[in-house]
Amino acid sequence: MSRSELESTARAMVAKGKGILAADESGGTIKKRFDSIKLESTEEARRTYREMLFTAPGAADHISGVILYDETIRQKTKDGTPFPQYLQKLGVVPGIKVDTGAKPMAGFAHETITEGLDGLRERLADYYKLGARFAKWRAVIDIGAGYPTQFAIDANAHALARYAALCQEASIVPIVEPEVLMDGDHSIERCEEVTSNTLASVFQQLHSHRIHLEGMILKPNMVISGKKAASRANPQQVAEATVRTLKRYVPGAVPGIAFLSGGQSSAEATEHLSLMNKLGPLPWELTFSYGRALQDEALKAWGGKPETFAAGQKAFLRRAKYNGLARTGSYSSKLEQEAA
Ligand code: 13P
Repeated sequence: MSRSELESTARAMVAKGKGILAADESGGTIKKRFDSIKLESTEEARRTYREMLFTAPGAADHISGVILYDETIRQKTKDGTPFPQYLQKLGVVPGIKVDTGAKPMAGFAHETITEGLDGLRERLADYYKLGARFAKWRAVIDIGAGYPTQFAIDANAHALARYAALCQEASIVPIVEPEVLMDGDHSIERCEEVTSNTLASVFQQLHSHRIHLEGMILKPNMVISGKKAASRANPQQVAEATVRTLKRYVPGAVPGIAFLSGGQSSAEATEHLSLMNKLGPLPWELTFSYGRALQDEALKAWGGKPETFAAGQKAFLRRAKYNGLARTGSYSSKLEQEAA
């Protein structure tokens, strides 16, 4: 392990004005996204779509890193440059999703445990050779009647910490992602309670596994009402509850926190991040690692057609720029209306 390499990679991932593009959709997930634009999910369609995003002119002004999927890290641009090398040349750090998915946890109805530890040491060594300098592992915590249990939270936190230790051994920065889902009808208070328990367990496990906190990035959910809640907290309440919770549970030694969007609209995700950064000064960089909230508009504008390749790039850049502004709290939802 190289601590100084880990620290400089982590700092680059949360550089000022920039954030991370999560483009690590698994085969099943990208098929769902392509279904929404009635596009067949072939290997070439997936390659073209990722090329559209990665080669958008000026993307590197707002994007510090890209999370790739196993297939994508082995793919190339049309003119033959492997994606990780293409990104590196732009000063964008390539990363890789290494978990193999959240599977039903035996004996615990409604709960999942994320798999992927077997053979991980060897896979990380391969990914490092392919150019990956950070990795991602997502644990999923759902909220409903009688769950999550503390046992499932702890089991997922333990797996996250084992993953993080293997990453650091390989000089790869772990993105530690415990996602409390916003799918239910729960209140923001319930989300705060579950997120608090989850983060407390995660940092306890990271400590027990001797993780070098300066060489990792946390990727949490925001503290937010469930999508189906009868009444939903407003953006300012989301920003305040999220920052309050993170301050309680995330040590200042962690260089950065990069949120997932989790099913928020693109504009909501940007506004929340901007409001949080306005609450500064904060102990860590607060940035984005969005999948859907960075890609939805680009995917629609592209629609899978060669003649709208540039339109897709434009839509992606606009979103990346707005999120870049949110890093300093200088995004305003008025920008959306002006653009529309
Ligand atoms: P979303 O922003 O679409 O939630 O995706 C981020 C991610 O990487 C989830 O693992």
